[in-house]
Amino acid sequence: MALTDFYPRVLNDMDKYEIVSRDLTFDFSGAARPWLNQDAYLTHMFNASSLFLPYVEGFVNYAVHNAMQSVEDKKLLADCRQFIQQETLHAREHVKYNGVLGFYGFSCSDIVQSIKNKLKRIRMKWTILSVLGAAAGFECFTAIISQVVLEEGLLNQADENLKRFWRWHMTEELEHKTVLMDLYHYLGGGYFRRISILTLVLIGYCCYGMRIYFNLLRVGHLSRWKGLACICGKKSFFRKSLIQAFRCYHYRYHPRLMRTDHLRAEDFSA
Ligand SMILES: [Fe+2]
Ligand SMILES: [Fe+2]
Repeated sequence: MALTDFYPRVLNDMDKYEIVSRDLTFDFSGAARPWLNQDAYLTHMFNASSLFLPYVEGFVNYAVHNAMQSVEDKKLLADCRQFIQQETLHAREHVKYNGVLGFYGFSCSDIVQSIKNKLKRIRMKWTILSVLGAAAGFECFTAIISQVVLEEGLLNQADENLKRFWRWHMTEELEHKTVLMDLYHYLGGGYFRRISILTLVLIGYCCYGMRIYFNLLRVGHLSRWKGLACICGKKSFFRKSLIQAFRCYHYRYHPRLMRTDHLRAEDFSA
């Protein structure tokens, strides 16, 4: 089935969007300080994500690279190449970021190693389509988090260097938000596989993310209870993102339905 059969209403503007890879480097020297709103709890929510993102990005790139062998659609292939470039650059910068965190003792290496092992087992044992489904689940959720954070201007008061980095990453997540789902459907992925794997992805993201977060709080001598309140409170970007992720369970959900054009215009050349 062609993509346009499945999403006739939303693919009319398919040719208008463009994925642009920007090879930027960032200064992470302030990463271990409370760089976001002078709030160590909020800061560690972002730092916790950074610690595992390079491995998730390697995983999604593996999924796309494998699936590309079966793609003939030129536009989709071009998007896949840009997607891989963007995620490779994100991972490179996160490794630098995590190096600074590690220098100050915020490394969580045991938990990160168990994430790497889990992703390796998935790559070895799951079919290409299921690996693609997992990658699509990650991409749906990271796009939702990016939209929530950028729309709420959560980074506005952050340290300039870290703000620029996260805005660059999140803007590009929105730019390439459709690629994995397009690829998954192009290769014949169905609804029940998608939502079953999405459920595992969301559970994994929450469990591992929380373990890393609480470990960062322990290293920083911060209260677990205040940390829990920061994650679960009504204003929490993570809680809002998780609630929005339930939209992904709709039969015809596609990230292209997210209205994010107004969040893409930032100029990172300065
Ligand atoms: Fe990324
Ligand atoms: Fe991504």
